[in-house]
Amino acid sequence: MKRVVVLGAGTMGNGIAQVTAMFKYQVSMLDISDDLLKKGMNSIQSSLSRMEKKGKLSAEEVKETIRRITPTLDFNVVKESEIVIEAVPEQFDLKKKIFKRLDELCPKETILGTNTSSLPITEIAMATKRPEMVLGIHFMNPVPVMRGVEVIKGYHTSEETLNRAVDFLKSIDKVPGIAPDYPGFVNSRILNVYLNEAVNCVLMGATPEDVDNIMVHCCNMPIGPLRLLDMVGLDVHLSILNFLTNELGDKYKPSPLTQQMVRAGRLGMKSGKGFYDYQKS
Ligand code: CAA
Repeated sequence: MKRVVVLGAGTMGNGIAQVTAMFKYQVSMLDISDDLLKKGMNSIQSSLSRMEKKGKLSAEEVKETIRRITPTLDFNVVKESEIVIEAVPEQFDLKKKIFKRLDELCPKETILGTNTSSLPITEIAMATKRPEMVLGIHFMNPVPVMRGVEVIKGYHTSEETLNRAVDFLKSIDKVPGIAPDYPGFVNSRILNVYLNEAVNCVLMGATPEDVDNIMVHCCNMPIGPLRLLDMVGLDVHLSILNFLTNELGDKYKPSPLTQQMVRAGRLGMKSGKGFYDYQKS
C-alpha cells in the first residue's frame, strides 16, 4: 500500500497526511478550498520544523516529506488510492454522501476509513456497496505525537480490511487498538465523561488551574483535563456528548457550563480562549 488519500486538511487531516508522508507514502490531501489546503500545509510545515529543531528529522527528511504530499481540490485523486482516510467535519450526512461517492470512484481493492470520533461506522458503511471494506481509523490529536489509533470494526467490516488497516498503522509507527462499533467506541466514551466531570468541578466552584493540577499531580495525567478540553475543542466535545446522550442516556449529559462557553465562543485553543487564554495566530 503506497498511495493514501486524506480527505480534509484540518487539524486531524493534515496531521494524518504528515505522518503518513513521513513514512514514505505518497499522500494526496484533499479539501474544498485553496485557503484550507494552504492552512493545512502551513500546519504540516510548522510541525515538521519543530521536529527538525528537536533533531527528530533532518532538513532533507522535512523537504522529502513535504514533497510526498500533494494538496488538491480534485476528488478524482481517489481513483488512484489504496487507502482513503476521511477526516472532514463530524456531520453525518456529509460523511455518508462522501462515502457513497468514494465507493463509486475508488478501485475495488481500496479500503475506506473514517476518522470519526463517535458516528456509527456501520451506518456510514451502508452508504457504500462495499461495507466490508469500511472501518473507523480514529487518530488522536496531535497526530504527529500521539501513537494510539482506535480502529473500529463496523458490523460488516471484514477481517481482511481490519488486518490491512492494522498493518498500515504499524507501518507508520502507530499503535492500533480495536474498538467495537457502539456509541463513542472506547476513547470518546471514556474520555468525554472525564472531561465533562472536570467542567462540572469548575461549575461547582473549583478553578481550572486547581482541577488540572489535581489530575496531573494526583493521578499522573500528562496534562489536566481542562487544558486537554481546550485542545480538543469545547464544540467538538459538546457535539460528542449530545450524540452520546441521545444514544446512551443522561450519564453523558453535557455540563451547562460547556453549553454556555460554546455559546459565548470560548471554544478553546482554536478560538484563542477556552478555560485558558491563548495567543491566536
Ligand atoms: N508536531 C510535532 N511535535 C509536537 C507537536 C506537533 N504538533 N506537538 C507537540 N510536539 C512535541 C514537542 O515538540 C515535544 O517534543 P520533545 O518531547 O522532543 O520535547 C513533545 O511533543 C511534547 O510537547 P511540549 O513539550 O510542547 O508540550 P507537552 O509536554 O504539553 O506535551 C502533548 C504535548 C504530548 C500533546 C501533551 O500535552 C499530551 O499528552 N496531551 C494529551 C493529548 C491527548 O490526550 N490527546 C488525545 C485527545 S482525544 C482525541 O484526540 C480524540 C478525539 O476524537 C477528540
